[in-house]
Amino acid sequence: MSARKDLGVIPAVFPMPVLMIGTYDESGTVDVMNAAWGQICEMDRVLVCLSPEHKTTANIRSLKAFTVGIADLPHMKEADFFGIATGNRMKDKFARTGFTAVRSAFVNAPVVEEFPVTMECRLLEQVDTEHLKDVFVGQIVNVTAREEVLDSKGEIDAGKLQALIYDPFRKDYYVTGDRVGRAWGEGKPLMRSREE
Ligand SMILES: Cc1cc2nc3c(=O)[nH]c(=O)nc-3n(C[C@H](O)[C@H](O)[C@H](O)COP(=O)(O)O)c2cc1C
Repeated sequence: MSARKDLGVIPAVFPMPVLMIGTYDESGTVDVMNAAWGQICEMDRVLVCLSPEHKTTANIRSLKAFTVGIADLPHMKEADFFGIATGNRMKDKFARTGFTAVRSAFVNAPVVEEFPVTMECRLLEQVDTEHLKDVFVGQIVNVTAREEVLDSKGEIDAGKLQALIYDPFRKDYYVTGDRVGRAWGEGKPLMRSREE
């Protein structure tokens, strides 16, 4: 067994997602930001941890809706740009990507056509406690997916997604790859007693 080393306090969850948070401001301008600090917290809920100064944060506070798209490899340049530029200062932030946004049929937030899978969410709760601020919990009211990432049964085939992964250690992007096993399945042999 190799030796271990203490690395101190670092966010050591890997992989982290690369989520595209889509919002409108009060004048109807589209904004999209990159968020890796986000996760599913119930079957129909997603949470994102946002900094207070972002345009997106103000947009969610005022319109109480947002979309959460999965960024994919073909759109990495734009996905990263959405995490560098701010709609507070760059008025044409979304427009300069050349992407297309359509209003969600379910919530007052934009769906970006280019991203393969998008959750359409109404704001369920804004967590504001001593230790957590601007954690937004979205109720997923619909998921929209591009047909090319669906399998023959109409379900999302993760093997087709080419989803980006955020690496918090070295600030790199990875891409999802091969399916290697079945969840709630691969461990079953260890459930049997040794005598069997
Ligand atoms: C890979 C990556 C992940 C990020 N994750 C988050 C995050 O989870 N929460 C956050 O507040 N900002 C995050 N950011 C920073 C915002 O995306 C960035 O500040 C952006 O400019 C905000 O845009 P807006 O002001 O138009 O909303 C991330 C940036 C990158 C590049």
